[in-house]
Amino acid sequence: MDLRGKAAFITGGASGIGLALAKRCAAEGMTILLADIEQGALLSAAQLLRGEGVKVFTYILDVGNLDQYREVANSVLSEHGAPHLLVNNAGVAWKAPASGATPEDWRWMVSVNVLGTGYGISLFVPAMIDSGQQGYVINTASITGLITSPGTSAVYSATKHAVLAVSETLAHELRPHGIHVSVLCPGSVATNITEADRNLPAEVERSAITAAAEEERAFTRSFVSNGIASDAVADQAFAALAERRFYVITHPEYREEIETRHRQIEAAIAGEPASDVGLLQFAKQMLN
Ligand code: NAI
Repeated sequence: MDLRGKAAFITGGASGIGLALAKRCAAEGMTILLADIEQGALLSAAQLLRGEGVKVFTYILDVGNLDQYREVANSVLSEHGAPHLLVNNAGVAWKAPASGATPEDWRWMVSVNVLGTGYGISLFVPAMIDSGQQGYVINTASITGLITSPGTSAVYSATKHAVLAVSETLAHELRPHGIHVSVLCPGSVATNITEADRNLPAEVERSAITAAAEEERAFTRSFVSNGIASDAVADQAFAALAERRFYVITHPEYREEIETRHRQIEAAIAGEPASDVGLLQFAKQMLN
């Protein structure tokens, strides 16, 4: 996998997993096209990378804003051509249970996590195919794209299932073009994701946050801060690209929950009585 001198376009690249992937791309000698909604963090990330001699171009971008994304994509394509690696990574997590999420909660998370991924694919993949070059796509889903949990992660989990679904179909569609797709399904990673509401649009009501959601947020904060390092996720992502593996499962400890869910589906197919649905470990801990 010779990536030297090739371009990687990375959304949510100013922090956490996106920034770790940018560093990993830089280590491979790639040119980094870094996009993020947060201008200050974006410039700091670019400065950090440039300090190491990396070629970096920055784009202020809300991935859920189609007009803005079109403009950014046009400028990327005209100045750098089709990216060799497209990373649809920008994402937000907000505490919203299935039964109590507001329409604005839905709109924000679907807009960033799902539409942001979809727009990235629509705006770049046709050009990647037309270039006739081999290439790569990384989509950041989550372990919550493979399994759900009760509590307030319902909407987030729904968006990550969507990212996983589109990644699977995209992987099949792009194989004949020599473009490999990998999907990241991490458990907890120590990043700034628990403070995703720093980018909360004004129309999402903070007052709607229930005491239970705040309590869960405190729990999630400690869970995430004890997570694995984002650099480890980036290393595993690159190992998957090199070996052309699709799923990147950084937390094998969730195997049992995933198997439980699959067993329930198989039992339903066989007409057997169902017991409980699979639960993420942190959900189990919360419910105990
Ligand atoms: P982070 O908060 O450290 O980084 C997310 C980046 O996305 C930030 O730089 C933020 O400014 C940017 N961003 C937010 N909204 C945006 C928008 N509308 N347009 C463009 N950029 C936007 O969080 P982290 O953890 O690095 O998140 C990256 C991805 O990893 C997300 O998709 C998240 O759902 C996923 N993930 C994170 C896990 C974790 O435990 N940290 C676990 C599983 C998945």
